[in-house]
Amino acid sequence: MGISGELFKSVGGIEYKNIVSPSVLSADFANLEDEIKKTEAFGAQWCHIDVMDGHFVPNITIGAPVVKSLKEKVNAKLDSHLMIENPIKYIPDFINAGSDIVTFHIETSGDTTLDCIRIIKNAGVLAGISIKPKTPVSEIEKYIPLVDMVLVMTVEPGFSGQKFMEDAAKKVKTVCDIAQNTAHSKLIIQVDGGINNETAKICKEYGANCFVAGNYVYKNSESGGMKSAIESLLG
Ligand code: DX5
Ligand code: ZN
Repeated sequence: MGISGELFKSVGGIEYKNIVSPSVLSADFANLEDEIKKTEAFGAQWCHIDVMDGHFVPNITIGAPVVKSLKEKVNAKLDSHLMIENPIKYIPDFINAGSDIVTFHIETSGDTTLDCIRIIKNAGVLAGISIKPKTPVSEIEKYIPLVDMVLVMTVEPGFSGQKFMEDAAKKVKTVCDIAQNTAHSKLIIQVDGGINNETAKICKEYGANCFVAGNYVYKNSESGGMKSAIESLLG
């Protein structure tokens, strides 16, 4: 399954070519349903769920039961970003919980990488593969034709609110070139970490079409800036 018209569907009659996936890591965890619904109302099509295990990254966050609860409450596509060791062990849980997109890291999938992709795709879920800022694109090159999405991390995974790394974002261009050379015209290229209107513009120029944003979207909610934050990423 590649990216479909449905994923890019118009919001309020306006066609958007980018996907916006606000990261709930910066949301109010006691009010996740309301927080996500606010982003939906402003046009965000996805909801980014950062899963951290305290091993691959120093932080511990959300597990599959939270994804399952959200599935019953929100319409946004659930975009599970697994920052965990041994992803093949947990991918089925995140599929069964209702994830629409499951992304794992090449740094932890090792010999199981192909199987991780197969399990996700056989379930009819979009498969994403991610690289940390210091991991070269060559590590995932052979898998790019097989996945629906490449997530290029633009901060070291583990925490929200970090500074965008432009050197990491440059890898988007390499991913984009590989997608073009392999005729993978539907590849979603997601960036995650330090994304705001200015850094997203840089990433768009390199070829990104899917934007994760934690602080930029959720920390703008009180000032009424959530709407303009989301719209600036959609455009
Ligand atoms: C970092 C996470 C990100 C994080 C982004 O490890 O993968 O999704 O929530 O937060 P901001 O947009 O604030 O950098
Ligand atoms: Zn993330």
